[in-house]
Amino acid sequence: MERTLNIGVLISGSGSNLQSIMDACAAGKIKARVACVISNKADAFGLERARKAGIPALHLDHRAYSGRESYDEALVATLREFEVELVALAGFMRIITPVLLEAFPMAVMNIHPALLPAFPGLHAQRQALDYGAKVAGCTVHFVDPGTDTGPIILQAAVPVLPSDTEQTLSARIQKEEHRLYPEAIRLFTEGLLEVSGRVVSVGA
Ligand code: GRF
Repeated sequence: MERTLNIGVLISGSGSNLQSIMDACAAGKIKARVACVISNKADAFGLERARKAGIPALHLDHRAYSGRESYDEALVATLREFEVELVALAGFMRIITPVLLEAFPMAVMNIHPALLPAFPGLHAQRQALDYGAKVAGCTVHFVDPGTDTGPIILQAAVPVLPSDTEQTLSARIQKEEHRLYPEAIRLFTEGLLEVSGRVVSVGA
């Protein structure tokens, strides 16, 4: 029988990327299952999406912890409880610390709505518009201690149109996000990602 990889997804909001990952697992496109979903926000819609899919959905309130490290210790303990092997950040609005990264070496991924290294941090789509970029996109990367600086796994580009608002550009990028994140997880699950320094080679 083929091994099924356990993914833990961390969210803070809508969870549309979480949905795309759950759907890809359910459709058998990736040999993985979402073992648990954790949100730092109680009202994150993604928690409802998880519950609807019968997946354990937990609220871990960061305000109940004295600092980032102790919060991350609680995250690690919960992820271990569900035997998570890959952590997928999907709109998780928290800075994570080495406590989480060292518990899951080269096994924490993030999706960012820009073509990194351009426009890291918050409001990436707004940044691209304000800068006058003609091409925007999204990036799936392994997480390192910096903000959106880890080794790049996959990227997808979309045009920026003269009529774009932050909303229309975000929607165009999100369409690509929902394809890209499950694909990056598939590559990870099948052992096709090799990391050398900050370069990720994708096997056939
Ligand atoms: C996405 O735009 C993602 O790139 C960014 O946060 C947003 C999360 O959206 N990191 P959703 O909660 O998955 O709908």
